[in-house]
Amino acid sequence: MISPALPELPDGVTVTALRDLAVRLATAAGALVREGRPDRVVVAATKSSEVDPVTVMDRASEELLREMIAAERPDDAIMGEEGDDVPGTSGLTWVLDPIDGTVNYLYGVASWAVSVAVVAGPPEPATWTVLAGCVHSVADGRTWSAGLGEGATRDGTPVHVGSATSLGASLLGTGFGYDAERRAQQGRVLAQVLPRIRDIRRLGSAAIDLCLLADGSIDVYYERGLNPWDMAAGAVVATEAGAVVTGLRGGPAGNAMTVAGPADLVAQLAEILEAADADGAGLAEIP
Ligand code: IPD
Repeated sequence: MISPALPELPDGVTVTALRDLAVRLATAAGALVREGRPDRVVVAATKSSEVDPVTVMDRASEELLREMIAAERPDDAIMGEEGDDVPGTSGLTWVLDPIDGTVNYLYGVASWAVSVAVVAGPPEPATWTVLAGCVHSVADGRTWSAGLGEGATRDGTPVHVGSATSLGASLLGTGFGYDAERRAQQGRVLAQVLPRIRDIRRLGSAAIDLCLLADGSIDVYYERGLNPWDMAAGAVVATEAGAVVTGLRGGPAGNAMTVAGPADLVAQLAEILEAADADGAGLAEIP
């Protein structure tokens, strides 16, 4: 695994300390959301479409994360799924998904997580360097974390991507957006991919998908339409576990496409996705 170069950090700051804080933040918010989950979760609002929900606990989780960051790292910026960006002066930004897998949380399906990452540089996946991240799968307590150059762990034990070398034998994770037209396009792309792999899993949390890739529970992953907070922490866990995390046509991972896995599988999958125009490079962008 070759980690990106470590950018200059503010005085007295280490990757290890940032990683420890990411773990503390994610587990504290996880405890809040687990304990506060009512028997019947209701939708507080919808966002990009009528099937893109926000619950009261998404908001409460993000509020707690923001309060803890303001108390411990007041000069850092914050970018979170459920609130306005907060500017900072340190050059570091915390990227927060207070509940990744909100539809699972709503329905009581046990695959949702609090995802916390800290990045250097402009808070945009194409240009940032993720310094540390934690994905805490709240329902079963599994906690993945990574620090740049430190490797990745699940519950403290080092993890590594799986050993599949052929795409045909690979279990593939993916996900779908909330926009109906986008989903129709994703279905057409999946029809090209499905005959060429072992099977797919659609587990409903991109952050967990990237961590399952990191510990070899799935072999390869792709998704179009990820937001920065869906992928920041999972991407550093995956890369520190030996994965390549990239876009198509030589571009970086991001909203247009994120492909992750061992380098040889990513190359094979990218070829199929490019031929299927999975990133819509030739099509008008759907928000
Ligand atoms: C969603 C999940 C899902 C992915 C969607 C994301 P949310 O995040 O990560 O797995 O397929 O693209 O938007 O809305 O639950 O935070």
